[in-house]
Amino acid sequence: MCGIVGYIGHRDAYPIIIKGLQRLEYRGYDSAGIVLFDGEDTQLSKTKGKVEDLKDKSKATISTKGKLGLGHTRWATHGVPNGVNSHPHYSNSGNLVIIHNGIIENYESIKKALVERGYTFESDTDTEVLINLIEEVKEKEGVKLGKAVQIALNQVIGAYAIAVFDKSKPDEIVVAKLGSPLAIGIGENEYFIASDASPFIEFTNNAVYLEDEEMAIVRLGKEIKLRKIKDDAIAYPNIQELQLNIEEIEKGGYDHFMLKEIYEQPRAILDTYRGRLLANQGIIRMAGIDQNLEKFLNANRIIIVACGTSWHAGLVAEYIFEDLARIPVEVEYASEFRYRNPVITENDVLIAISQSGETADTLAAIKMAKERGAFVFGVCNVVGSSIARETHAGAYTHAGPEIGVASTKAFTTQITVLTLIALKLAKEKGEFTDSKFHELLTQLEGIPAKVEKTLQSNVLIEQIADVYKDSTNCLYLGRGYNFPVALEGALKLKEISYIHAEGYPAAEMKHGPIALIDDQMPVIVIATRKGHYEKVVSNIQEIKSRHGKIIAVVFEGDETVTQLADHIIEVPETSETLSPLLTTIPLQLLSYHIALMRGCNVDQPRNLAKSVTVE
Ligand code: M6R
Repeated sequence: MCGIVGYIGHRDAYPIIIKGLQRLEYRGYDSAGIVLFDGEDTQLSKTKGKVEDLKDKSKATISTKGKLGLGHTRWATHGVPNGVNSHPHYSNSGNLVIIHNGIIENYESIKKALVERGYTFESDTDTEVLINLIEEVKEKEGVKLGKAVQIALNQVIGAYAIAVFDKSKPDEIVVAKLGSPLAIGIGENEYFIASDASPFIEFTNNAVYLEDEEMAIVRLGKEIKLRKIKDDAIAYPNIQELQLNIEEIEKGGYDHFMLKEIYEQPRAILDTYRGRLLANQGIIRMAGIDQNLEKFLNANRIIIVACGTSWHAGLVAEYIFEDLARIPVEVEYASEFRYRNPVITENDVLIAISQSGETADTLAAIKMAKERGAFVFGVCNVVGSSIARETHAGAYTHAGPEIGVASTKAFTTQITVLTLIALKLAKEKGEFTDSKFHELLTQLEGIPAKVEKTLQSNVLIEQIADVYKDSTNCLYLGRGYNFPVALEGALKLKEISYIHAEGYPAAEMKHGPIALIDDQMPVIVIATRKGHYEKVVSNIQEIKSRHGKIIAVVFEGDETVTQLADHIIEVPETSETLSPLLTTIPLQLLSYHIALMRGCNVDQPRNLAKSVTVE
């Protein structure tokens, strides 16, 4: 987690760093800091809180001049969030300065040795240990900063994206990466450094993404030099042209990114299947699948690994793959999978799902599966992300940047990609007739318009939110394809409104959760007329008999559930397979409104970060 930004060039660094940090706040936002260097002196400002607090503090306490700057927005790992633990950190001499995203796992032993050799520490961070190790190496070995960084990094275990400068070298920043992302934007006689390209997109479209175990000396007036940290081998920078545009990362008139992203779903789903789904011709075209079709068709099973919302998309995919393509699927939390010595064979296909493409556990699961011979396919949103690069092949969801910490459009676009894959494999395997295949393709093509229609329930959902905003608990129930939607609805509510919520398969209610139901308990039930409708109706009766409050998500024109429920939210009818793409929308809006009414920070909920790049 944590976001890092750096600048060196001909402009004032301060506004670039501050704006960049604001764009990276999704990565962590419990404290922030900035250092500016005018060639002679450094100005340091750090504080607990958001970048806005840093801005206020910096304006009042430091000179904001300097053409070189580093900034950091933090999600605390080592040491509580406060000014002292915030980055940047100085070395003991005050000559070296660092920002760091990641964790140095062996920092305690290094710190102990440094203390024995006379080093002192102000903060509790692993980062301050690293900068002093670099300083010690530099002085002991009599080497330049780049070499000292390289030697020091060969002594650390962990993950990092770092940027370091030396006050005696005002035209140079040294950067390095292992496990955490780092991009270098290349402008006209200026360089930008950041955790992703969003901080510099208005200045340049050219960027280099460092690979793991690479470092670079970013020097004004010189081309970027890349080196391998381990063996000093020269690596050649692959300069990419960025596709991102500035409008995509601004709020565009919405109060919150989350709301904007919920409303972007019709477009995002359309963009995700555009060019892939050719309903008229009865074709699904996906390069990553086409080129590896045999691997999928001959797979013993598909293992899906992911975390959080992406894991819920994986659960939906399990239903779709098994139901349509008749391929056995197992869905695993990446964090469990990577540590439980799973049986993986060369005949397994592993699909890793991740919006950010940077989730540490998912990345580790991929690496393990690759080592054991599995074919690994990625479903990611962020182009060029670590997971996109680490997998053998993949398919992007074309959701556009998702900034709100609560995942919304990532979920529906992941399901869209996974549905396309399942449909394609089902067709190739001859699992259903041309007419059924064609019907599903046509239905999928109709989903964006149906999402658009579902969004029209926003005012009704806001009214329902008002009734339940003070609840302390909430239950979400669904069956079949909509069981994962219940899990996802509960996750959305708890992460942004801090109301305790649980998702359950509706039939499981009788095995425990039913004890919780009383007249204070809102129960959100997904009860679409397809699938196991009658069974869900029975579950609703059971809740009603215990005076639970029922909010039901149903297909338009529903009569049975409408008579039983306290509140009804209708979505347009579609096939059971595609229903999660619609039923999930009201649950996103409900969470959004409840969180807002409770005064919560919808886009940046407490204790969370958008990409979880630490395990
Ligand atoms: O970037 P990823 O999809 O790998 O992220 C996985 C989870 O961290 C993420 O979905 C998280 O659960 C969201 N906050 C949920 O809204």
